[in-house]
Amino acid sequence: MSPAPGRSRVFFALWPDAEVRRRLHALARDLHTRLGGRLSRADSLHLTLLFVGEVEDDRLATLQGAAGRVEGRAFEMVLDQVSCWRHNRIAHAGPSSAPVPLLQLVDALGKALREAEIPCDARPFQAHVTLLRKADCMQFPAAKENPALPPILWSARDFVLVRSSLRPEGARYEQLTGWPLR
Ligand code: 2AM
Repeated sequence: MSPAPGRSRVFFALWPDAEVRRRLHALARDLHTRLGGRLSRADSLHLTLLFVGEVEDDRLATLQGAAGRVEGRAFEMVLDQVSCWRHNRIAHAGPSSAPVPLLQLVDALGKALREAEIPCDARPFQAHVTLLRKADCMQFPAAKENPALPPILWSARDFVLVRSSLRPEGARYEQLTGWPLR
């Protein structure tokens, strides 16, 4: 369902550079041949840090101000694991070990939003990039780790606030603001 007029559905994310995007998309296409489902668009691939959900557009500046006060560190992350969640049929890639600065960034964003009294998704963070939706996870090996995945190195140098618009063909994402990680 689309947000009501005057409201936006937003989230914070890491956005991959062209090379990481190319490799993730190649992986997604390969998985798609085995698991079917709906392939994420290459230009939509991302790692969600914090899902905020619907906010009034006139609260966006407050949200951006809060994010701007977060002091995150730049970091390297190795995506070396691919798996398929059966409960929501999402096939995804992620790091087998989430880097500490990534977890600190997620915590700092949550804290900044609480201080700004902006509610957000409270579910525990699970670092992942959605590759397929409605995937046939039964075709996926039961073992969580897939040793065949050549590691993808992701250098996180910034994070972004993204607006999501739901379309019949899938969500469209628009980057609203970015902040550097130092
Ligand atoms: P997903 O890819 O696992 O569905 C935009 O919807 C992004 O925010 C997606 O990466 C999505 O994760 C994530 N997200 C986290 N919590 C969400 C929620 N409650 N509703 C929709 N998307 C959520």
